[in-house]
Amino acid sequence: MDAAIETTDLSKTFRSKQGEVTAVRDLTFQVSPGEVVGLLGPNGAGKTTTMRMLSTLERPTSGNAVVAGHDLLRDPHGVRQSIGLVAQSGGTRPIATARDELLLQARIHRLPDPAARAQAMIEAFHLADLADRPSMTLSGGQRRRLDLAIGLVHSPRLLFLDEPTAALDPPSRADLWQHIRDLRRRAGATIVLSTHHLDEADALCDRVLIVDHGRLVAEDSPARLKQQLGDDVLIVDLGPDHGRAHDAVAGLPGVRGVRGDGAQLRIGGENADELVSRVVLTLHDLGVEVRGVRVERPTLDDVFLALTAGAGTGHA
Ligand SMILES: Nc1ncnc2c1ncn2[C@@H]1O[C@H](COP(=O)(O)OP(=O)(O)OP(=O)(O)O)[C@@H](O)[C@H]1O
Ligand SMILES: [Mg+2]
Repeated sequence: MDAAIETTDLSKTFRSKQGEVTAVRDLTFQVSPGEVVGLLGPNGAGKTTTMRMLSTLERPTSGNAVVAGHDLLRDPHGVRQSIGLVAQSGGTRPIATARDELLLQARIHRLPDPAARAQAMIEAFHLADLADRPSMTLSGGQRRRLDLAIGLVHSPRLLFLDEPTAALDPPSRADLWQHIRDLRRRAGATIVLSTHHLDEADALCDRVLIVDHGRLVAEDSPARLKQQLGDDVLIVDLGPDHGRAHDAVAGLPGVRGVRGDGAQLRIGGENADELVSRVVLTLHDLGVEVRGVRVERPTLDDVFLALTAGAGTGHA
């Protein structure tokens, strides 16, 4: 089957009097129909710009893409009809009510019974008590739920969600996860979502694309990305005099990556059991007190920080 999304050297440079910013550089990737793909990367990495280009809101500086079978540059209208977008900043008009916004979207998409569809979305997103108030009076999280309902009103087969769960409380986030899983299971929808919550990518995504400074730096399933860092992470708590510990440990055989803020090191490696003795002996020789040692499975956070080290995140 044809890919749901296929980009070729997609790039975007913003030019202004202050200078140039290349937000996205030569991004080439594919998304298969029915796949849920996560876009991960630090602030400013180019996630929103990528989604805005793929949903026709921003014109690429160079490169192109085929989105839901339509050429992005030659047939933006075809793309727009086939997709849904929930923007990072939302898109509701302040004085319109939630119900008005849903009705409008249902009509724009020429759904058979707009009022019934609006009501169904109001119920699905627990907006019943809020549906007839101006959207500007909703809280941030309530407005986010409305944004999602609007993006989903026409049951698009390809959906872009830009940080969909930002500002949601835990029950609303759990609700949204369920919506995403249902959409994919019942409608076979293809979903591209950006998130800073690695647990979210881990829970929802078949594949994650990690972007940094507009470039694709890694692309794989969450499980395989975690494996790249090693099977285990060794967590070592250190005493006060830990200045040289990081570099000494990083140079040891079997160590694939080290991060930490000084008093605690997270050490990725193939076999934590073997690493334990090596790390503890090395630290002992250095005169660094070891206060605790434990082994955990790596999280996507470990992978993400290892791949985007020093890229404006402030982490080692
Ligand atoms: N309209 C614009 N004009 C100038 N620069 C822009 C514009 N839009 C985005 N940028 C710049 O492009 C880069 C990528 O921004 P983008 O919004 O795509 O990042 P992001 O990965 O979505 O970040 P975040 O996690 O903070 O949402 C940033 O350096 C940003 O300042
Ligand atoms: Mg963004």
